Amino acid sequence: MRREACPQAYLRLVTDPAPAVWDPDRLPDQTGRTFLITGANAGLGYFASEQLARAGAHVILSGRNPNKLAAAHDALEARVPDASVQTLLLDVSNVGSIRAAAASVRGGLFKRQRLDGVLLNAGIVHTPRQRETTRDGRELVLVTNALGHFVLAAELLTTMSKSASRTWTPRMVWLGSMSTRMGAYDPVDIQLERGYAAWKAYVQSKVVVQALGIEADLRLRDAGVPVESVVAHPGYSIGGRTPRVSGVNEPSAWKRLKGGLQAPVAQSKERGAASLVRALIDPEISGGEYWGPRHLTRGLPVRQQPSRTSSDPAVRRRIWETCEILSGMEWPLQRAARMAGR
Ligand SMILES: NC(=O)c1ccc[n+]([C@@H]2O[C@H](COP(=O)([O-])OP(=O)(O)OC[C@H]3O[C@@H](n4cnc5c(N)ncnc54)[C@H](OP(=O)(O)O)[C@@H]3O)[C@@H](O)[C@H]2O)c1
Repeated sequence: MRREACPQAYLRLVTDPAPAVWDPDRLPDQTGRTFLITGANAGLGYFASEQLARAGAHVILSGRNPNKLAAAHDALEARVPDASVQTLLLDVSNVGSIRAAAASVRGGLFKRQRLDGVLLNAGIVHTPRQRETTRDGRELVLVTNALGHFVLAAELLTTMSKSASRTWTPRMVWLGSMSTRMGAYDPVDIQLERGYAAWKAYVQSKVVVQALGIEADLRLRDAGVPVESVVAHPGYSIGGRTPRVSGVNEPSAWKRLKGGLQAPVAQSKERGAASLVRALIDPEISGGEYWGPRHLTRGLPVRQQPSRTSSDPAVRRRIWETCEILSGMEWPLQRAARMAGR
């Protein structure tokens, strides 16, 4: 379903109240497919990886810390004994790390030389109080949550388009947030050089992510690239409501208590991952769509409307072009279209 800016539907959160039945515990068989997850050593990224592995997919767990990655790998193998999983060192705030990781995926260092989907999940949720920058001088939250994924998706685009087949169109899923409804910052000052605040940095980065995700799908479609782009959000998913997984999620008693008090509005990261996984693998979903929990903060995944700012065509175009300038690259759309299905 293609969607342009739709102001009259802005407050109509759930647009599809009766979606096809989706049981996160009984996913369609993913045997033969390969998915890469960023920020897979913890939280939503870990649980999405686990769910995909349980459904038979080959999962590339990526993360920036080798020890945390090893712990997540061990935990996943212990919880899903027949999992097909490997790790990839990838710091999404570092362009050198992104290029090196993407080169190893493209170069076939991995067991399978195909890529059926990427979950662009890594992110800074607890943003720094003061503005911080990366080594190349870019604002850290924007780079980690949005710009790094813009570069990564570009670097993996031809690998994904080559993996397209008659039965499957590879997909990239961007991590949006319901916070984009709570303060619709229009990211004119995209690096917050004129006024930084921790909450604003988070929300603005997520407006950028959502805009990129929607705009990417239009551009892929226009260029004839058989890759889809979908945006999904996990509602309000917290560690204190999440099962203990050694080395991955070990909440203190205090965190559990706080989690319990928030039970009416919060869900576990395991449940939150369901929206992301559905956005990645449900064949009924089309590029350009926006998915999240039925009750906004929690619940089973349903199709929703993105916030007005992130779906505004002028805002999307401006954000896309700004990301091209900041990253110094354009997506290889023509090459990806030529390589399709090879
Ligand atoms: N939880 C929610 O309710 C919620 C709501 C809306 C959106 N989201 C989005 O969902 C995503 C995951 O959130 P979460 O709740 O699972 O958070 P989390 O538990 O804090 O996990 C974040 C993951 O991102 C990784 N990460 C951070 N910076 C990175 C970098 N530079 N390079 C590579 N990996 C990096 C972390 O790795 P380290 O362990 O090395 O730090 C960790 O694996 C984020 O994009 C977040 O904005 C979450």
